[in-house]
Amino acid sequence: MPELSVVIVATDSEQRTMLQVLVDGTSVARTVHSCATFPVAAADPVMRRVQAAAPEVLLVDIPSDSHSPAMRAIELLRQELPDSAVFAIGSLSQPQLIVSVMRAGAREFIERPTTTTDLLEAFVRLSTSQRRVQKEGSRGKIFSVVNAKGGSGATTVAVNLALALQSAYGQTALVDLAPLGHTSLHLNLKPLFNISDATRNLHRMDSSLLESFMTRHSGGLQLLAGTNAPASIEPSNTEFVRLFDMLVGHYKYVVVDNSSRLDAASRLVANLSECVLLVACTDVASLWSAARVQHYLGESGNRERLRLVLNRFRKVPGFSESDAETAAGVKLLWRVPNQYFAISSAIDRGSPVMEQSHTEIARCFSGLAQELTRNDVDVKRAAWSLFKTV
Ligand SMILES: Nc1ncnc2c1ncn2[C@@H]1O[C@H](COP(=O)(O)OP(=O)(O)OP(=O)(O)O)[C@@H](O)[C@H]1O
Ligand SMILES: [Mg+2]
Repeated sequence: MPELSVVIVATDSEQRTMLQVLVDGTSVARTVHSCATFPVAAADPVMRRVQAAAPEVLLVDIPSDSHSPAMRAIELLRQELPDSAVFAIGSLSQPQLIVSVMRAGAREFIERPTTTTDLLEAFVRLSTSQRRVQKEGSRGKIFSVVNAKGGSGATTVAVNLALALQSAYGQTALVDLAPLGHTSLHLNLKPLFNISDATRNLHRMDSSLLESFMTRHSGGLQLLAGTNAPASIEPSNTEFVRLFDMLVGHYKYVVVDNSSRLDAASRLVANLSECVLLVACTDVASLWSAARVQHYLGESGNRERLRLVLNRFRKVPGFSESDAETAAGVKLLWRVPNQYFAISSAIDRGSPVMEQSHTEIARCFSGLAQELTRNDVDVKRAAWSLFKTV
């Protein structure tokens, strides 16, 4: 692995010195410059010196008592040094901070107090992904599916959407985050591993290990199966971010079945998604719940990415689609017809309706896949990066 050049930005002098020792101690990276203040503008002399050092990695320490100057600095550094990767160092106890830092353009969030091993692992991940990106181009998109109310059809939508994306574009993964995973039943698969195995092994995850946790469906769709027992240990937010970072590095499209899971993990995945499909039916309880769920997921700035999918759709006299949108507080994206017999027997047989080509219901899910990928200039290589980097 070639040596990486690193610039350290840390306002605390002890932390600055410590980081330099740790970076140089990895023996795969070397500190080329360190700054005691955050750059505040492109023309700032601090920024000039960082640019002159042309580092591959910018290590930015986020002080516990004040985040804003560090966040602004990360955005500015990403803008002025688009080829450098930003690693943020901070406290893991604030999930929202991690998401904001990633959205500002950081590639990694490393816990403080930091160890040489933490840095070494992050440097190795960067080098590996640079090699992979050079080989393959850009990264995939996440579409997550969440129920307004239990049983609304999230799993049916997620499974058939994933199959439709796989059939149209290939390289699609389906990730089952439901409290109890049903996707393998819908697809008639018997997974050897599931999401818990993947999150338990994140510390040693690489491409081949990730692939070994996936279960292949006959048409090529790769399933990261859900748990078959309620999870005893929940992975941390950083672990989830790392898992999804790996997934978008591997697959063009990643569909996530959250079903009725509403917790920090489903909110985090919503944050990372291109579009969040909120599945509801046209009854009062379902639309009332949809409004509550959109409020919960929308709190962390996701509102514009939430879209309503009306499942078991049938016209109700005196109740229009715009009434449904108003009740749920989400724009309508798609309607899935009410076809109880076709869908329930497909689930029982483990043969999803997408496999019954030329049927109205299969065309409906193909149409949803087309709609979601409509703006991809080059659908064969989706131009999106989770961390706005490399
Ligand atoms: N478009 C539809 N028309 C008629 N019935 C449907 C439709 N979509 C789903 N169903 C039925 O609704 C039931 C629940 O579907 P599914 O398992 O996809 O829901 P879910 O929302 O993921 O459930 P859970 O809350 O348990 O995770 C199934 O029995 C299925 O047959
Ligand atoms: Mg489900």
